[in-house]
Amino acid sequence: MATTLVNSDRADMLGAIGSLPRQLRDTWQNASRAAAEAIAARTDAPRSLVLCGMGGSGVGGDLLAATFASRCPVVPVKGYDVPSWVSTDDAVVCVSYSGNTSETLSCFGQAQSRGGVAAVITSGGQLGERADAAGVPVLTVPAGYQPRAAVGVLYATLAAAAQRLAVVSDAASVVELAAAGAQRVVDAHESPADDAGEPPALAMARTLQDRIVIVYGAGASTAVAHRWKAQINENGKVPAFAADYPELDHNELVGWQYARESGGRWALVELVMAETRPELVERMDITSELSADAFDALHRLEARSDSLPGCVFELLTFGDYVSTYLALLRGIDPSPVERIIELKERLGGR
Ligand code: F6R
Repeated sequence: MATTLVNSDRADMLGAIGSLPRQLRDTWQNASRAAAEAIAARTDAPRSLVLCGMGGSGVGGDLLAATFASRCPVVPVKGYDVPSWVSTDDAVVCVSYSGNTSETLSCFGQAQSRGGVAAVITSGGQLGERADAAGVPVLTVPAGYQPRAAVGVLYATLAAAAQRLAVVSDAASVVELAAAGAQRVVDAHESPADDAGEPPALAMARTLQDRIVIVYGAGASTAVAHRWKAQINENGKVPAFAADYPELDHNELVGWQYARESGGRWALVELVMAETRPELVERMDITSELSADAFDALHRLEARSDSLPGCVFELLTFGDYVSTYLALLRGIDPSPVERIIELKERLGGR
């Protein structure tokens, strides 16, 4: 790989992605112990598990919902308000890597007044302070990552909390399957099989460069499609959009009919796994054939892992690499998110 490409990766985003399997495995060991000490074990599942968190801290909730056969609904909340129905029957977990995200702090306050927050996951900040002061269990994650690059840490910590709250069982095996899925991609990245010695994610990024990337998921791959979109935005620093089958066949499909007239250059990535229903794969076949004219590049990525958590983390890890290369190919450091920092400053540091 050209050294100049990697030179722009000043905060080592590629290294953070390569650490994903380790993040998952090591965190599980520590977090399951910490959760056992901090969170009183429930025997019955709550009515629902409500997971409040934004951006890179919110994605763990989407992934938990996508990978576990949970004993109650898992409801990710991405905003200032917990749903009006939340009461003592539900378990609320607030996740903010920095601990200073205003939406998550607002949800924490609301949930506390509705029956209490079951646990907080953070590296510190105001959320950690407020939880400590209120006697809410805090699972502390190590600082030093970009929140979105700590996805393995946050997911494994959430899994430990969810198991303690009787929402999921056998979390150790699910986290290990997720780690194995991520490992498959990290290994292929570090020892590329093709003759050019180029990582597969870099080869794909070259085809997506200078195009607006559309990512389609279906079923469990929907959460990953949204992660790809967010990572292309935050790492690649370009627009990207995600949607999911079958809903997109009832609206977005029509939008591609005259898409060339907009002058945009579009690329499509579809994410498939063994669990994807055959009806959905058939829809993908027909939809991408009908819309083919609109796209400069069209990819169908099929996960090879033999478990659902493995497939989810395999596709996620590949997307994290692709989004990083979209920045590196343009000589941009993928890690900083200056616009988010500027926005938070203009909101008064919230
Ligand atoms: C930055 C990132 C963002 C943050 C989001 C919320 O790397 O991933 O999406 O996660 O702005 O901040 P935290 O995670 O600190 O609550």
